[in-house]
Amino acid sequence: NCNLKTIIVFVACSALVPSSSLFCSTSLRLACLSPSQAADITIERNTACKPKPDPSTLLFGKQFSDHMLTINWSEKDGWEAPQIKPFQNLSLHPASSALHYSIELFEGMKAYRGVDNHIRLFRPMLNMERMHRSANRSSLPLFDKGELLECIKKLVDIDQEWVPYSQEASLYIRPTYIGTEPSLGVSRPGKAMIFVIISPVGPYFATGSFNPVSLLADPAFVRAWKGGVGAYKMGNYGPTIAVQSEAVRRGCQQVLWLYGEDEQITEVGTMNLFIYWTNKEGKELVTPPLDGIILPGVTRQSLLDLGRSWGEFKVTERTMDMKELLGALDAGRVLEVFGAGTACVVCPVGSLLYKGKTYQIPTMQNGPDLAKRFYKELTDIQYGRTPSEWAPLVV
Ligand SMILES: *Cc1c(COP(=O)(O)O)cnc(C)c1O
Ligand SMILES: *[C@@H]1O[C@H](CO)[C@@H](O)[C@H](O)[C@H]1NC(C)=O
Ligand SMILES: *[C@@H]1O[C@H](CO)[C@@H](O)[C@H](O)[C@H]1NC(C)=O
Ligand SMILES: *[C@@H]1O[C@H](CO)[C@@H](O)[C@H](O)[C@H]1NC(C)=O
Repeated sequence: NCNLKTIIVFVACSALVPSSSLFCSTSLRLACLSPSQAADITIERNTACKPKPDPSTLLFGKQFSDHMLTINWSEKDGWEAPQIKPFQNLSLHPASSALHYSIELFEGMKAYRGVDNHIRLFRPMLNMERMHRSANRSSLPLFDKGELLECIKKLVDIDQEWVPYSQEASLYIRPTYIGTEPSLGVSRPGKAMIFVIISPVGPYFATGSFNPVSLLADPAFVRAWKGGVGAYKMGNYGPTIAVQSEAVRRGCQQVLWLYGEDEQITEVGTMNLFIYWTNKEGKELVTPPLDGIILPGVTRQSLLDLGRSWGEFKVTERTMDMKELLGALDAGRVLEVFGAGTACVVCPVGSLLYKGKTYQIPTMQNGPDLAKRFYKELTDIQYGRTPSEWAPLVV
C-alpha cells in the first residue's frame, strides 16, 4: 500500500507547498522504499519517429521502436519515477557490476495485434513473477510486479504502431535489469536499473511450414546444474553461445542440453523440451520437471495446462534420460519431439547427433499433429481469434 500512502502524502504536500510536490513525492519514496510506480511515470515523446519496417523483412531483435522505459534504483533514494523516453544509448560507469559480474537478468515476452486490431500480451504476470524471482537470485532489489507490468503496457501503448499489422509477426518485449553499482567490489549492488526495449519480430517459421531442427547431444557440455541458476533468466547465457557454435560446426542447428551421469534430457537451445510418445499405458506427453535446472517457461506451462485440460493423453513432468529416449526411438514409440518457447511457440526436432551417430526423429512424419495443435491453440489466443483470460488487452 505504498501507492495509497504516496497519494495521501503527495496530496497533503501539494496542498501545503504546491511548488515542492516533486520533493514530497521523492522523499516519500525514500521513506517507504516503494517499488516503481506506474502512476508516477514521466513521458518524453520522441519527435523524430522512425518509419515502421515491413513485417516480412524483420530479423529477430535488430530493430527497435521509438521509445524505451527506464527505472533507476539506488540504495540511497529507492526507486525513481519510471521514465518513458526516446530510444537511446545508455551511459554506464565502466565499473558497473552488470559488466563485470553479470549482475543482470532479462525477460522475453510479446505483444500481438489481434484480428480485432486490439493489442494483447500473453500471460504477462508469469513473466513478471519469473523476473522477480530472478531479481532475488541476482541480489537485485525487488520491485512491484503489477506496477512494472503497467509501465510496460504504457510503453507498448505509446509505441502501438510498432506492433506489426500481421498475424505472422509480433512485438518482442525485452525487460532487462542490471546492476549499475560503480565499484569493483563483489557485492550486492547499491545502484540498479530496469530498462525495457521493444522490437518488432517476424514469423519464426515461414507461413504454414514447420522446419524441424537438428540437435547436438554431447554430455561434455552442461547448461545448468543443481543449486545453480538454470531456473532463472539471468547472466549465464553468454557461455552457451560457444557450445551453440560447436553444434553448428558439427552440422547441427541447436544444442540438446544433457545433465548428470545418466545424461538426463533437459532443454533444447533456449527452449523447454517436450516428448510425445506411446508407452504401455498409451500416449504420453513428457517434459522435465522444474527441479532447479529447467527454466520455467511460460510456453511450457501453457502447453502443460492445455494438454491437461484436453484430457486426451497423459501429461507428465518427470526426468528422462538418453537411454530411455534412444530405447523409445529404437522401438518406434516416439511420435513427436519439440522445443517450446515464446519465440517460436513450438519448434519440431528432426534429428539428434549423439556420440557420433545421427538418430532420426519422426516428428514431421507424424504431422506433427500435437505440435501443430498447440501452435494453433496458442496463436489463436494470442491473436484474439479465441477469447481467453490468458491474453489481457493493452489497447
Ligand atoms: C526463455 C527460455 C525458455 C522459454 O521460456 P518462455 O517463457 O516460454 O519463452 C526456455 N528455456 C530457456 C533456457 C529460456 O531462456
Ligand atoms: C550509440 O552507441 C553506438 C555504439 O557505441 C554508437 O555507434 C552510436 O553512434 C550511439 N548513438 C548515439 C545516438 O549516440
Ligand atoms: C539512471 O542510471 C543510469 C546508469 O547509472 C544513468 O546513466 C542515468 O543517468 C540514470 N538516469 C537518471 C534519470 O538518473
Ligand atoms: C529470495 O530468495 C531467498 C533465498 O532463496 C528465499 O528464501 C526468499 O523467499 C526469496 N524471496 C522472494 C521474495 O522471492
